[in-house]
Amino acid sequence: MKLEEFKPVNHYDAINWNEVSDMIDKATWEKLTEQFWLDTRVPVANDMDDWRELDDDHQWTVGHVFGGLTLLDTVQSEAGLTALKEDVKTPHETAVLNNIQFMESVHAKSYSTIFSTLNTPDQIKEIFEWSDTEEYLQNKAVKIANMYLDPSQDPLKKKVANVFLETFLFYSGFYTPLYYLGHNKLNNVAEIIKLILRDESVHGTYIGYKFQVGMRDRTEKQQQDMKDWMYNFLYELYDNEEKYTHLLYDQVGWTDDVLTFIRYNANKALMNLGQDPLFPDTASDVNPVVMNGISTSTSNHDFFSQVGNGYRMGAVEAMSDSDYDVKDPNAGKDKNSRD
Ligand SMILES: [Fe+2]
Ligand SMILES: [Fe+2]
Repeated sequence: MKLEEFKPVNHYDAINWNEVSDMIDKATWEKLTEQFWLDTRVPVANDMDDWRELDDDHQWTVGHVFGGLTLLDTVQSEAGLTALKEDVKTPHETAVLNNIQFMESVHAKSYSTIFSTLNTPDQIKEIFEWSDTEEYLQNKAVKIANMYLDPSQDPLKKKVANVFLETFLFYSGFYTPLYYLGHNKLNNVAEIIKLILRDESVHGTYIGYKFQVGMRDRTEKQQQDMKDWMYNFLYELYDNEEKYTHLLYDQVGWTDDVLTFIRYNANKALMNLGQDPLFPDTASDVNPVVMNGISTSTSNHDFFSQVGNGYRMGAVEAMSDSDYDVKDPNAGKDKNSRD
């Protein structure tokens, strides 16, 4: 923003959760805070035996799939939610988007938890170099990021871009861990992905809903133009996604199955936006092993208990004054030890 455009405010309103104008904001806040999680509580190291059994081609696909997902979650956590927060109808929507933004950072970080367990430092370096330069991956990240970053762009189109990323573009990557989950392999990696997927599902539905609310203020002609633009944008993204899928999956022979899966999810993205499906693919066309993985709940969906084999609650203790005694790190070592 240029300096001369700044107009100082002369008051500021406190957010009042006792007066909520859109109950979807409140319901979404409750759902998202209930399902809060952290990557560091999933014991990924338990997947090492499964990982060592994979050949080089399959390990390459897993590593680079997660490299791609890291980039997309980075876009969401930075440009994506920052852009959506520019166009809110209620203060509660801002609060929900704050939650989503933080969780996108958790998602982006969680792939690094997987890498640091499964991959060597040289492999990790190569995966990030690949993610930051690979043509088709960069194409999709840049197409979406430029929608977010352009201040002159229609805020409703930014919501469409967001839902396409949340509900469609992530799924070429999600296929791999779901496939392994269906074969009872890499279960803890899959647990992280299922926690991410559970979040993305709420995000896509919520932003799609906000898009539909925004569309009500548009004329019939504007609505039609929006639809035309949306389907063209989806075709453009799908065209690129096909090439990206070949690149990731040709060597393991899964390309056709992955393409079916992403067309199925593209339809779901359109549904979130209140539109008709574009592709003929339905749930029954998707590899049943993957559908099975997607439909099971996470191993522990009750955050406040330790039921399930995946997600582990950390042990907590009250803070004491000595926790703040950081002047001499060596002297404080024993005193502050939590073990
Ligand atoms: Fe995410
Ligand atoms: Fe998300």
